[in-house]
Amino acid sequence: MKSNQIRKAFLDYFAENGHKVVASSPVIPADDPTLLFTNAGMVQFKNTFLGLEKRDYTRATTSQKCIRAGGKHNDLDQVGFTARHQTFFEMLGNFSFGDYFKEEAIFFAWEFVTKYLGLDPNRLYATVYKDDDDAERLWKKIAPQLKDRVLRFGEKDNFWSMGETGPCGPCSEIHYDRGPDIPGELNGEGDRFMEVWNLVFMQYNRDDKGTITPLPKPSVDTGAGLERFCMVLQNADSNYGTDLFQPLIAKVTELSGVPYEPGPKGVAHRVIADHVRALSFAIADNAIISNEGRGYVLRRILRRAARYGHELGLKEPFLYKIVPTLISKMGDTYPELKAHRGKIELVIKTEEEQFDRTLENGLARFAEIIDKMGGNKTIPGAEVFKLYDTYGFPADLTEIMAKEKGLAIDMAGFEKELEIQRNRSRQGSSFASTLKSEMYIIPKTEFTYDEFQLTTQATFYDKFNNSAFLVLKKTPFYAESGGQIGDKGKIISDNFEFVVEDTKKLGEGVIHIGHFDKSDNTTIERLREGQPIVVTAQIDSERRADIQRNHTATHLLHKALRMVLGEHVYQSGSLVAPERLRFDFSHFKAMTPEEIERVENIVNEKIAADIKVTWQNKSMDEARQMGAMALFGEKYGDTVRVVQAGDFSMELCGGTHVKNTGDI
Ligand code: ALA
Repeated sequence: MKSNQIRKAFLDYFAENGHKVVASSPVIPADDPTLLFTNAGMVQFKNTFLGLEKRDYTRATTSQKCIRAGGKHNDLDQVGFTARHQTFFEMLGNFSFGDYFKEEAIFFAWEFVTKYLGLDPNRLYATVYKDDDDAERLWKKIAPQLKDRVLRFGEKDNFWSMGETGPCGPCSEIHYDRGPDIPGELNGEGDRFMEVWNLVFMQYNRDDKGTITPLPKPSVDTGAGLERFCMVLQNADSNYGTDLFQPLIAKVTELSGVPYEPGPKGVAHRVIADHVRALSFAIADNAIISNEGRGYVLRRILRRAARYGHELGLKEPFLYKIVPTLISKMGDTYPELKAHRGKIELVIKTEEEQFDRTLENGLARFAEIIDKMGGNKTIPGAEVFKLYDTYGFPADLTEIMAKEKGLAIDMAGFEKELEIQRNRSRQGSSFASTLKSEMYIIPKTEFTYDEFQLTTQATFYDKFNNSAFLVLKKTPFYAESGGQIGDKGKIISDNFEFVVEDTKKLGEGVIHIGHFDKSDNTTIERLREGQPIVVTAQIDSERRADIQRNHTATHLLHKALRMVLGEHVYQSGSLVAPERLRFDFSHFKAMTPEEIERVENIVNEKIAADIKVTWQNKSMDEARQMGAMALFGEKYGDTVRVVQAGDFSMELCGGTHVKNTGDI
């Protein structure tokens, strides 16, 4: 059976058994900052398992696009070296949301593999969680042919969790024995026994403290690797020998002139074939390549492939040339590949060109390092760092190259160098970053958005590292957050005048950093002891007005960039100051002068149109329904503030803004 037939047979089988066929969700999970990539079929159903979301069906089946290249489930290092690992793969799954449980799950899986795929029952094994007597009993009842081939394993093999948090439960796997000629042990090294299907009996949720609580209803989540089914049914030597990969491998051969060989000589072909798939699917789902988070995982994947290509003599960008082959193989099943073909090729090619500029020099540098190693078996962290910092070699790439020479790298040393660099760039940031909230218990300070001056009480004062700070009960001073810098101004009482140079958050409180212009020791002592004193707090309102202009302008810019460059653009950092604004975002290449002009024109138009700017508090759900733009990776509370510039822009934002865009 070919891959398309297997995929179809699976979905058809479960559809006939009352399951709703649901489309794959994107490989970039919507709304789930706990995950880098969609790593299993259950990801799109996470909230349904948790009982937070209701669907109009209780049984579903999917063929899910998955990437396992970071986080809890990470196969990147194995790719190329084993028969069965990929970074991108398709997971076939059936799901029960409080509908059927262990018995039917086992029955369906057994019937499908033996009757529909025709796998030889004598070659199959089932594993169960160490104390899951039920599952063992059910296997023996439903599949008597398994005889004594129902085995028990512990937590590592037979308890499945989505990530550090989220749904989890004991699981039961089906393994296929490819025969004694292939070395390997079940759940051990080697490729003789192939795990083809994992049935998870979803029963628990793990929260961020590690506490496990039962799910509202016992459920089922299963995952079978399409590529592994293909390998077994096509009697291929590895996943890479199946119809899913053969055209890609043939294309690598065509481009490089180097024929493919299964086994150790074929690593480069396999890595390239796999990595092109991961990159193409991720980019089709709007991922971008960058220097952080998932963007950096993709960069590592691309550079790993480019380096292997180099070994095959491919010194010019070549990965993007394989994309059309992938699209002709998979574009009918996943039309997003076709729809984004131009973008996929462009992003990959641009990134290849960028790395090619340093690859050659980096390899030369690596060769020098190797020459100087003498009897030393570990490449020092400082060298690994230099390769990373100057030549763009991700540390895991250097590690692979080192391994090929029988060497290791000092990863801890590398991390240390990285940390030193980070600290260097952090230096100069103000004292509040070193002032830890554990050192003081500052009560929650109430911030008033719409007043520039108010009468309140000063409740605490102290000095830290040559700076002094004052705490108020209520404050008109905006504490630096979300890119908007802290307010300056004055805090005045009958006995003192305190000049505020900066305002920061500390825990839930706000600290006003500065110095006394006028004061006396008795007052200071009283404040240190926490005796309240009535004060007038007054921000520098002109400066604040400038900041507000820049903040609202940032929102207009954000929206305009998305209109001109695409929806993948989102704010990854920003600075909103009185004299300027800076907006950080990732895009796969430099903006052209025309694009910059279009963005400027849109922003200027919206300023000229003098649109009303409004803000209101909403529940997170309401805000989401309204379509407010949220920043990925930001933590929001249950109540959020939605800032709107007419119907042009809508963002979650805690900052302060002008009332009309014309003020900008
Ligand atoms: N979610 C389970 C897995 O990924 C089925 O193995």
